[in-house]
Amino acid sequence: MTTTLTTFPTEAADRLRRGGLVGFPTETVYGLGADAFQPEAVKRIFEAKGRPADNPLIVHVRRREQIGQVAATIPAAAEPLLERFLPGPLTIILPRHPELPSVITAGLDTVGVRMPGLPLTQRFLAACDTPVPAPSANRSGRPSPTTWEAVQDDLGGRIDCILQGGQTEAGVESTVVDCTTEPVEVLRPGAVSVEALRDVLGAVRTESSTEASALRSPGTRHRHYAPAAEVRLVEDPSETEPGPKHAYIGLDAPAPPDAFGAVFVEPDLEAYAHDLFHVFRTCDEKGFEIIYAQTVPPTGLGRALNDRLRRAAAR
Ligand code: TXA
Ligand code: MG
Repeated sequence: MTTTLTTFPTEAADRLRRGGLVGFPTETVYGLGADAFQPEAVKRIFEAKGRPADNPLIVHVRRREQIGQVAATIPAAAEPLLERFLPGPLTIILPRHPELPSVITAGLDTVGVRMPGLPLTQRFLAACDTPVPAPSANRSGRPSPTTWEAVQDDLGGRIDCILQGGQTEAGVESTVVDCTTEPVEVLRPGAVSVEALRDVLGAVRTESSTEASALRSPGTRHRHYAPAAEVRLVEDPSETEPGPKHAYIGLDAPAPPDAFGAVFVEPDLEAYAHDLFHVFRTCDEKGFEIIYAQTVPPTGLGRALNDRLRRAAAR
């Protein structure tokens, strides 16, 4: 299959409405979408990615009214989150609408709903005029794509169309919050910080690393975000070993920087998150063998960054 590249959201939406798979940008990472109400098309998302069928998809909507097509009810705890964070990089888990095809939710009785904030995504979703289930547009296990070229590298020839936007702003995925429990629980740390959620809601549980939430958020069970190179986590750059096929990314500079194949010193957490997956893919293109990645203080965006780093380093 040839994968059409387009900068026109209406053209990409037209492909989706005709049953196609479309890669599209959001403010977090690129997604791979289909029409929620064409289950055969949704099934092809799993095939194209090599994604296990037990890993549910989050559904993207343009307008608040569309949530009613996807979810059965909106629990009280979800209301302030909708008000404050949507549109934006937050996914809320709600009770599933009985008519939503079960291939999307992998048989669960809940559904993840996300309303992206990027204007290009909004134009695309408006033209689709249907809810759009979409995981990140990478081959399963690989780093999430932050550019359309990365989508093409992973899925070119396997999907119908790519909507070409710029490099994504956040670089790390949405925060996934389960609103069907009291208090709500963060199942995946992401671009919206736990501190920001607590400001709005007060109590928020965070057990993203525990067995229980790993079971409830099936995607967190699998190895993830991994480049071909081995990722080694360091707290301090002095723990690294320089070499021409070794790369480094972190907030503090290693010494001597010239002894590495590539060094990425990030000015702050936002820049680190923005660059991380892109750096992983760049290092693979250059054939590097080891990527040293510095862990960060576990507050704000640091929680999401450490989570992605740990998963990328898992063997
Ligand atoms: O930023 C993002 O969230 C991106 C963009 C494209 O929107 N999407 C994304 O999707 O990261 P994906 O499929 O790569 O990650 C979604 C995560 C997975 O870990 C999945 O298991 C979890 O959300 N999830 C989806 N539906 C769920 C549900 N009903 N209950 C618990 N976890 C769910
Ligand atoms: Mg993903």
